[in-house]
Amino acid sequence: MTTPLADRFGRVATDLRVSLTDRCNLRCNYCMPAEGLDWLPTEQTLTDDEIVRLITIGVERLGVREVRFTGGEPLLRRGLVDIVGRTHALGVETSLTTNALGLSRTAQALADAGLDRINASIDTVRPETFATITRRDRLQDVIAGLEAAKAAGLGPIKLNAVLLRGTNDDQAAELLRWSIEHGYELRFIEQMPLDAQHDWSRAEMVTADEIFDQLTPEFTLTPHGEPRGSAPAELFDVDGGPATVGIIASVTRPFCGDCDRVRLTADGQVRNCLFAREESDLRGALRSGATDEEIAGRWVVAMRGKRAGHGIDDVTFLQPDRPMSAIGG
Ligand code: GTP
Ligand code: 5AD
Ligand code: SF4
Repeated sequence: MTTPLADRFGRVATDLRVSLTDRCNLRCNYCMPAEGLDWLPTEQTLTDDEIVRLITIGVERLGVREVRFTGGEPLLRRGLVDIVGRTHALGVETSLTTNALGLSRTAQALADAGLDRINASIDTVRPETFATITRRDRLQDVIAGLEAAKAAGLGPIKLNAVLLRGTNDDQAAELLRWSIEHGYELRFIEQMPLDAQHDWSRAEMVTADEIFDQLTPEFTLTPHGEPRGSAPAELFDVDGGPATVGIIASVTRPFCGDCDRVRLTADGQVRNCLFAREESDLRGALRSGATDEEIAGRWVVAMRGKRAGHGIDDVTFLQPDRPMSAIGG
């Protein structure tokens, strides 16, 4: 029998996002400082077996149907292929959100292990802008990773792009054209207050409406027919389709009312929301000998504290202590 991961507002989480590491090999300036962050010590990070145990509890007892691996950068996790294989064996859909660096070496092994698809981050297709944003000159490696993922059948591949004022906010149309030419589904994301530096400002954020207005002189965008469900992206057909573009308006048009997500951090904390102020310590329970039933019970309780929405526009809004890179994208 499964107990649903239900909250007080009637939402049920079936989509588990598992952060495998808080480390990253890029240093995107809207995410973390050039010197990186104080990474989690190894002993606080879940082992592969602990991760698979928690995922198994989620799937077998709590109704989890999809598992997405995130980071930091999940490709930096040595046991990734094994974790994917063991998760796939539970019969759930598996996906990965990655920066695609080094993916050219592992795409085939991931596909063979049962990974269904990937989403990748790419904010520009200009090498110099890429180096400015990520502080690394690695655009060609990212593109090679995407090509390898396509060749390995890890699709449909979605690309995520954040537009930053004064850096790449004039490149939306160029990025869309490139994505369509190469067979990728591009989504633009509104920047959220989840950066380690706490530099985010509502006034500086490039809004969904601005993104739309940038694209429409060059493309005809019409709402894509299919119902959106719990997906974060509003989808548009480009020039009559079949190509599409997505806009993830997390800030100006939040989709929290339809949220079906729950997160597990690399150190074994359940977060019921990206913006949760509290976490529930499953690692502590695991390591003190709790049974699967007890861990499941703790997880169910953690969902009851999920708030109705992120509340970014509330005067009482507080940015979470952990940045996006430590929570998982
Ligand atoms: P699929 O649509 O299933 O492919 O996945 P996804 O779009 O949920 O996953 P992905 O990791 O690619 O997420 C894309 C972006 O959407 C993230 O980088 C976030 O900016 C945003 N996002 C994802 N999940 C959430 C969420 O729960 N809340 C909010 N506010 N934004 C989210
Ligand atoms: N707001 C929105 N998206 C962000 N990402 C990283 N930081 C933020 C933020 N503050 C994106 C990355 C990547 C995905 C995992 O999350 O660009 O596409
Ligand atoms: Fe769900 Fe929280 Fe994201 Fe809103 S901000 S969609 S409630 S995880």
